[in-house]
Amino acid sequence: MRQKGKRSVWVTAYDSVFGSIADEAGVDVVLVGDSVGNVLLGYENTLPVTLDMMVHHTRAVRAGVKRALVVSDLPFGSYQLSVRDAVEAAVTLARHGAQAVKLEGGYTDEITACVRAGIPTAGHLGMTPQSVNVFGGHRVQGRGDRGDEMVTLAKQLEEAGAFAIVLELIPAELAQRITDAVTIPTIGIGAGVGCTGQVQVLTDVLGLTNDSFKHARAFVRGRNCLLDGLRDYADAVRDGSFPTEENSF
Ligand code: KIV
Repeated sequence: MRQKGKRSVWVTAYDSVFGSIADEAGVDVVLVGDSVGNVLLGYENTLPVTLDMMVHHTRAVRAGVKRALVVSDLPFGSYQLSVRDAVEAAVTLARHGAQAVKLEGGYTDEITACVRAGIPTAGHLGMTPQSVNVFGGHRVQGRGDRGDEMVTLAKQLEEAGAFAIVLELIPAELAQRITDAVTIPTIGIGAGVGCTGQVQVLTDVLGLTNDSFKHARAFVRGRNCLLDGLRDYADAVRDGSFPTEENSF
């Protein structure tokens, strides 16, 4: 898509219903993000998410997605200790439906090994949530001198064989520099419009929660639609207008 000058659209999904909706909407890549931990399961961050949980959600998403590429996150602790761990984790996710995987940070040897094993692998730089405790919170990264380091790292990820790099919460100007410095797609989230694609968290773009973030936009007030629907259902049960004969056997 980058070679054809087309921006790619990524969105997270965690189950087959929303995976199929993203697929039907024409999204290019459905990311089974380890953000399932904080977005769906109510954890403080992504750190408690295990490989077994990623398998569970990857299988569900893959069941609902017929067309888009399904990419799954390697969770915290599944690739940081050794190349062997990384390949084993990637193979496990691939066996359960991931067509590609993504891992955070400068794990170039791990990326090369996963690609050698036949599993396309994306990198992820900037505010990498699995390192939230090093960053001291979800903060913009790559300001000042750190920008040069990130450009170098991005080039190393490309050389290692990454098929794309997610750039999270970095200055737009730095994301543009990285995009110019590599030939693979750069997928931004809070990284400006200069990336060759964008990724967003499903609940943010659908407006399913009351949270709002500078890097996101709710393209529909999904929470309000769902509340209306559920309130209508409750009213209909209470006033006896549902079920009707049509719904009866
Ligand atoms: O897990 C996730 O949702 C992600 C995106 C924020 C890029 O990695």
